[in-house]
Parts: sequence; structure tokens; C-alpha cells
Amino acid sequence: MYGDTFTIRLNRRFGPLVLFSDPQALQLILTNDDTKLFEAPGGLNVTLELITGTQSVFGLSGERHRRARRLLMPPFHGERMRSYGELIRGVGEQVVSGYQPDQAFPARNPMQTISLRVILRAVFGLTDGPRYQELEKRLGTLLDRVSSPVSASILFVPSLRQDLGPRSPWGRFIRNRQQIDQLIYDEIADRRKQTERQRDDILTLLMAARDESGEALSDLELRDELMTLLIAGHETTATALTWALYWVHRLPPVRQRLLQELDSLDGDFDPSAVFKLPYLNAVCSETLRIYPVALLTFPRVTRSRVDLSSVTLEPGTAVAGCIYLAHRRKEVFPDAEQFRPERFLDQHYSAYEFLPFGGGVRRCIGMAFAQFEMKLVLSTILSRFNLALSDARKVRQQRRGLVSGPSPFRMVKIG
Ligand code: HEM
Repeated sequence: MYGDTFTIRLNRRFGPLVLFSDPQALQLILTNDDTKLFEAPGGLNVTLELITGTQSVFGLSGERHRRARRLLMPPFHGERMRSYGELIRGVGEQVVSGYQPDQAFPARNPMQTISLRVILRAVFGLTDGPRYQELEKRLGTLLDRVSSPVSASILFVPSLRQDLGPRSPWGRFIRNRQQIDQLIYDEIADRRKQTERQRDDILTLLMAARDESGEALSDLELRDELMTLLIAGHETTATALTWALYWVHRLPPVRQRLLQELDSLDGDFDPSAVFKLPYLNAVCSETLRIYPVALLTFPRVTRSRVDLSSVTLEPGTAVAGCIYLAHRRKEVFPDAEQFRPERFLDQHYSAYEFLPFGGGVRRCIGMAFAQFEMKLVLSTILSRFNLALSDARKVRQQRRGLVSGPSPFRMVKIG
């Protein structure tokens, strides 16, 4: 309706933002977002600062941003990532087992619990115990606030931030946040005492990291990066998993084909083998294509005058990739509004046609990890349990705080 390129205003604090979805324009932006044409300034990503703090990778730019990414990336790739396979499968199985047969439940609930547990165990390296349980409960509350459009307004509207005691919205928010911070600082303090233990979680790796001058990260920096990974990874993955559950159970032929593919593994659910299954991969990709969890990339800003998709952008113009519209382009994805995983078997899409995780210097750090988790959780649920949608209502896409997800729907475990 608005054409390829148009300008939006997200809120008063944030100036105009020019959106692009044409693959050629996206390629130009995302391959030049740290050159003389564009930058990817962290200063524009301040919405989450109340939770992630000021030292988070979201808010950093230039060399400090590159350094933070170098520190954070390794645990989300290769062998390190694959070592979390059994943990992810175990959490998926444990959470869904806890649901009673024949009793309908909101589909999002188990997916939220799974994604939070996976992050707390893999990223924070927490094991069961009172601190873990307290943190899971408190983080669940904090993250639920961020995902509800009404409560999330505290993040966007500074005038709502009035501490009118522990029962007021802002009062509750800051008290909860203080308690979470304390739990994290206690965990860091304990870790500093137990240097002899070999661990491969991300908190340990961050604590061991040193910058060029030999400095370690401060407790505040550690806290901010942990909260960033939580905020970036929890709601997004839970939402993608909820959509995947919906599509697989809404479309019986998709479920059937997935079950056949899983059968071909002959009971060998080795995480690396599951990761390589082509149809499972296609279902996860199509889930992220049709309703991408993040509608937009983070903003980039022009450093000089740039001609792009027949518009001229003056220096200092904020632009962003519109992931949603890029995934709906009819010439790239025929029948774009249909859920058709086969398209990912028949064709290869470029990184500027299909970009659920953004691209360039801010491309999602958790991309491989999130795809790994989606595949393992989905395959575990399908092979171990018989779930069904508990009503025939159509699910719509709706805003959930900072991401976009399915309207609430219920499922039931059969037998
Ligand atoms: C399905 C799940 C996920 C989706 C759809 C998603 C999507 C995205 C998108 C679109 C961006 C912005 C990229 C850009 O501007 O070019 C991003 C950034 C980011 N993501 Fe994810 N993400 C997911 C899961 C995760 C996970 C599991 C983690 C880590 C635990 C994570 C950590 C991050 C971080 C730290 C950034 C900021 C990178 C930077 O500023 O340099 N994400 N993600």
C-alpha cells in the first residue's frame, strides 16, 4: 500500500525512520553498516536500557561494539553450542511431561518455560537450587511485563515511571529488578571464589575474558550482558516456538511429513543429526518467514548522502530493514501469505531476501543457537507427545511488547 520505501515515526522520542524491504537496498545497507555510508549506532537502541543497562552490546557502537560481539559470539556457535543439545532436549521433555493429558493449556506457557530454562542453564550456567528457582520466578515476571503491551509502556513513556510504592507498576518493576540484580551479583561473587571448576557456560567465559589492556569485565558489565542475552533470546525464541507449534498442528500434512522425517532417524536423536534434517529446517525457516518475530532490524544511520531504491537520503537519516515486508515480496515468495515449508527445499534464498535475524554488524548473535533450540524442542515434542490444537479459531499475528507473536491459543496433550 505504501510502496517499497516509506517513513514511519515510532514515537516522539525517536525521529523518522525510513523502511526498506527491497533485497538490493537491504544488501547495500547491511553490507555497509560500518563504512563511510552507514553506521549502526547503539545510542538509538535505548528502549531496553531500563533492563539491559548501559553497558549492553545493544547500546554500544564502533570498536566497543565489535569487542563485545567478539566476546559474546563463540558460545553460540559450533561445538560449544552443540554441547547444549542434550540439555535443550531434556528441558523440552521435562516441561511438556508436566502437563496433564486432556487438559487444555495456553500454548505459549510451556514454550516460555522451556526457553527461559534453556537460557538460564546454558547461558548463565545455573544449576537447580534456591537461587535458580528465585531467579526463574523473578525473571519470568520481569519478562512478562516487557511482553505485555500495557506494562511495556513503562519502557516507552518516561512519565509513567513513578515509584508510588511496591504495588505501583513502576515500584514493582524496580524492586523486582533490584532483586534480580542481587541474585546475579551473588552468583558472580560465588563464581569468583570457585576458580578450580571447569565450566563452559557463557557467564564463566565472560568472566575469564580480558580486553587489550588485560582488564576483566566489571560486575556491572557482566550483569548488563547477561540481561541483554536474556531479553534478546528468551521472548524471541519462545515466540518462534509457539508459532511453529501452531503451524505444525494447524496443517496435518506438515505434521505428517515431519513425523515421517523423524522416523527416518530410527530412534537416533543425536542433536547434530536432528539439526541437519531438511524438512524440519524448512518448517522452522517458514515459521520465521511468514510472521517474523522481529518486524524490523535495529536502525542504521547514513554517514553521507546515499542514493537507495530511487530515494536520496541525507547524512544522518535513520533507516531500518523491514523484515516483515521483505518476507512478503511476491516476486521472491510466491503465495507469500501461505505457510509452505517446501519453498525452502526447492530454493535457496539470499541473506537479503530471508533475514529473520537481521544482518550486517548487528546480525543476531543467537541466530544459530535459536535455530538449534527450535529444531530440538520441536522434534522432541513431536516424537514424544501427541499434542493437538484445542479449538478451531484462527490465530492472528499481534504485537507482544517488543516482538510480534501469535494471538493466544490453547493446546491439549492427548493420551
Ligand atoms: C527466534 C529467535 C530470535 C530472533 C528472531 C532474533 C532476531 C534478532 C534480530 C532481527 C536482531 C537485530 C539484527 C539487526 O539489526 O540486523 C537481533 C539482534 C540480537 N540478538 Fe537475536 N533473535 C533471536 C534469538 C536470539 C538469542 C537466542 C539470543 C542470545 C541468547 C539473541 C541475541 C541477540 C543479540 C545480543 C542481538 C544484538 C546484536 C548487536 O547489537 O550487535 N537473539 N536478533
